[in-house]
Amino acid sequence: MRDWMLIESGFQKEYVRKYESIMSMGNGYMGVRATTEESYERAIRYTLVAGTFDAKEDENTTELPNAADTTALFVTVNGIPLHLTQENTENYQRSLSLSDGLLKRSFVWSPSSGLRLEFCSERFVSLKELHVLGHRMSIKVLEGCGTLELQSGILGGDRYGSPHFTAMQGQEQDGIMQYAETTHESNITFVTSATVDAWMRDKDGIETPIDMTIDAEKERVMSSCRVVFEEGQEFHLEKLCRIATTRDKDFELASENVSKWGRDLLLHREKEEMEKLRIRGYEKTWKLSQDCWKELWSEKDVIISGEKENAEYDQLAVRFAIYHLTIMAPLHDNRMNIGAKGLSGKGYYGHTFWDTEIYMLPYYAWENPKGARSLLEYRYLCLDSARENARESGFEGAKYPWEAAWITDGDTCPKKHFTQYELHVTADVAYGIYYYYEITHDIDFMRKYGCEILFETAQFWRSRLEYNAEKDVYEIRNVIGPDEFTHEANNNAYTNYLAHLNLKFAIEWKERLQRDYPEDYERLNEKLNLGGRMKGWLEGRDKLVLPVPNEDNILPQDDDYMTLPEIDLSIYRRKEKKLRVDYPYPVYTRLKVSKQADVMNLFLLLEELFTDEVKRASLAYYEPFCVHESSLSLCAYSMLAADCGENKKAYELFVGARDIDLKLKNDSDHGIHAASLGGIWQCCVLGFAGVRMCGGKLRIRPNLPKHWESVKFRMWWRGSQLEVTVTKDNVAYEVLQGSHIVEIETK
Ligand code: BGC
Repeated sequence: MRDWMLIESGFQKEYVRKYESIMSMGNGYMGVRATTEESYERAIRYTLVAGTFDAKEDENTTELPNAADTTALFVTVNGIPLHLTQENTENYQRSLSLSDGLLKRSFVWSPSSGLRLEFCSERFVSLKELHVLGHRMSIKVLEGCGTLELQSGILGGDRYGSPHFTAMQGQEQDGIMQYAETTHESNITFVTSATVDAWMRDKDGIETPIDMTIDAEKERVMSSCRVVFEEGQEFHLEKLCRIATTRDKDFELASENVSKWGRDLLLHREKEEMEKLRIRGYEKTWKLSQDCWKELWSEKDVIISGEKENAEYDQLAVRFAIYHLTIMAPLHDNRMNIGAKGLSGKGYYGHTFWDTEIYMLPYYAWENPKGARSLLEYRYLCLDSARENARESGFEGAKYPWEAAWITDGDTCPKKHFTQYELHVTADVAYGIYYYYEITHDIDFMRKYGCEILFETAQFWRSRLEYNAEKDVYEIRNVIGPDEFTHEANNNAYTNYLAHLNLKFAIEWKERLQRDYPEDYERLNEKLNLGGRMKGWLEGRDKLVLPVPNEDNILPQDDDYMTLPEIDLSIYRRKEKKLRVDYPYPVYTRLKVSKQADVMNLFLLLEELFTDEVKRASLAYYEPFCVHESSLSLCAYSMLAADCGENKKAYELFVGARDIDLKLKNDSDHGIHAASLGGIWQCCVLGFAGVRMCGGKLRIRPNLPKHWESVKFRMWWRGSQLEVTVTKDNVAYEVLQGSHIVEIETK
């Protein structure tokens, strides 16, 4: 089981945040940090609901508010509140089982001499039912007697994090606690409901229910009890909860009705649902979720076999990645996307970046094409605000913002500098469509959504290109490429090649629509004047500067990077110091140093355009200048090294990526690193197992690390599901569903 479990043995206060993030639970609808029941100073007790953005006025952006909490339990024994220290705690263990999403905690607490109590708790967020979560706890008296006081219920969301709620109110009816709170600006009402049942079990196994008293206030609604206990007795508590909001798709009402009646209707519906849940009970509810996880793993697991120690940890890492890629993605609602920290923390305010299309979309495209489509439909629903964004910046078409939140929020990047210059996100969205289409051949998506995005993003690029009359070429000047340390870059290779692909792809689809789907063509032509735009796209495509490798086979990152001054980067690469402290802005932006992979990403996305020699020479050249300060870096370098046949290096780089969230010393306090987790999956399946969509073809060319013997997984390719087993020198596959004629290149 070691490759299925995250385990914390021994309580260390300094890591409370780390464990809260990496052991967080969720189901794409909500994310709940794995906060301990009792509170500690550094704890970040967050429950986040996807897509419920509200204005964060102090920073002119929107963020996910922190919903009411159901995880806290206030326990007092003989007047002493539960609080763990190294001295009063024994046998501490907390674990998260990746196989079924169950968080468990157990320890023995000795608050005073002659008193020893064994605590066990379990928590889950249902994978089966988006709104449901459960929590149970038992306290066994190992030694001593006295009085136990306990409180458990719902605590208003504004207790932690910045304030977002008005009209907060707790209420109780028929033993069902409910708490409603409404966001200031986005006017979303959250309703949290809970029931708590408690009982005592004596030494002979006889159970006696405990009467709970419920107090409803403005900021909380709490169920409490006070019991006298003696040695050998056990106290048990079970809590079932629901969280729902007026933004939920299953609660759609006209917006006027939502503000007028939404709150009452939702409270009413949730009360009924809670009654049903209570009747069904904890155990059955948990089983439904557990079965759902079982089913998920039978489809999505990546099974690595090889040398015990190392392969086992790699196995854990890829499962950890798949677990989080499952719980972070709001695939139930195409108005939502994945945040840079998933739903495990408020880092980056829950905003969506290029991380989705380039780092995470591949997982969904190969493993869950419907889910991938939902993520891209989100970009379609943001198209109007991207159009507005382009117009406001003085351009045409659609310009996707560097950071995105709710579909009508527009540009939510608090640092306007990045939105103004880090333009590649617009081409990344187009690339995502290209990638998804080639893997799925989902023509319906292209006709309804994909083409329109391509046409509008292509038009943005056309209007952003600058003509260089002397050379008779178009250039893209003054941008920030993926490497966020290099500013004011001209002709950043990554940006130019992707913008070029965007133009090329728009031209191809314009022609295809015209030929095969004239009705769609007419509709879009009327709206976007495709005929009139074509000339500009063709000119842009044919004359856009596409940097070429130099005489040493190195592809220049941009016009100037290779001639920038060099400094000794060793201490920064070893992470002993932060470069930006010693070379503050803007000094570091004019040095030959990269925050993260840049050219490498281009080689991975458009691999067919570059020779192995160019990839190898560029990898050797750029890596020493990279401090890998972004979690998006090591995985990209690892995959490229695998492509270059440098398996040892690829594995070393993979280890760095693998450990970003898993290793204690690394920081995940404000949430896991979603893109890097997508990257870990990519390293295993696209890097080492070598699965690629390459120029529209499926290719599987393994580059396994020395100590891996095989990797086995399932994947989708154009409507067929395959089960693939890759060894060092062989690719075997079976078609499980769909057409049996699947062409795979293995060279
Ligand atoms: C990286 C970006 C990334 C963002 C969100 C930044 O540190 O440089 O590439 O999109 O984090 O993950």
